[in-house]
Amino acid sequence: MEENLEILFDAQAIEQKVAELAGRISQDYAGKDLVLICILKGAAIFAADLSRHLTIPVTLDFVHLSSYGSAMVSSRTVTVKKDIDIDIRGKQVLLVDGIIDTGNTVTFLIERCRERGSAGIKVVTLLDKHSRRTAAVPVDYRGFEIPDVFVVGYGMDCREKYRNLPYIAVLKNDFDTDRGGSMP
Ligand code: IMP
Ligand code: MG
Repeated sequence: MEENLEILFDAQAIEQKVAELAGRISQDYAGKDLVLICILKGAAIFAADLSRHLTIPVTLDFVHLSSYGSAMVSSRTVTVKKDIDIDIRGKQVLLVDGIIDTGNTVTFLIERCRERGSAGIKVVTLLDKHSRRTAAVPVDYRGFEIPDVFVVGYGMDCREKYRNLPYIAVLKNDFDTDRGGSMP
């Protein structure tokens, strides 16, 4: 392992948490049609694992967003690189994020789902950096709350590296992490 990485959650801890979240979601949405919307690229691996643990039928869609401006400012501009394809009018939607930081991205997406006439919108995130929140986000399912550290692995990157790590690690001694730059 690279010396600048310090494991925060190993593969087993992640697997356990994903199964637990999926159990709760399957229970809560029993008998309903659920659309999972995965926020690329960071949530890709989480969404893949989470969806395979669900015991209810789901439809899967993906969005890819870009965010510009300072990470500290809640009004960062979000642009859509790949939009929602599925017709979500009247449907229950669950937004799947890998990490919620300021909350800006997911807030944008909640609004977009509302505009498209979704009947209900909930949010699941594996990681929650709650102390960095600038926008009030209703997080319905939270894997782990983490402090204000920069993490990589299990989908999360630093300049597109480390996404394939099976664990989540804190990236140390990197003064140019990309949380304010081009996202997922
Ligand atoms: P926000 O909630 O709009 O501020 O942005 C969340 C996005 O920023 C996430 O989906 C990640 O792509 C990225 N991000 C924030 N914190 C981290 C981190 O610690 N590691 C990797 N990506 C991060
Ligand atoms: Mg990134």
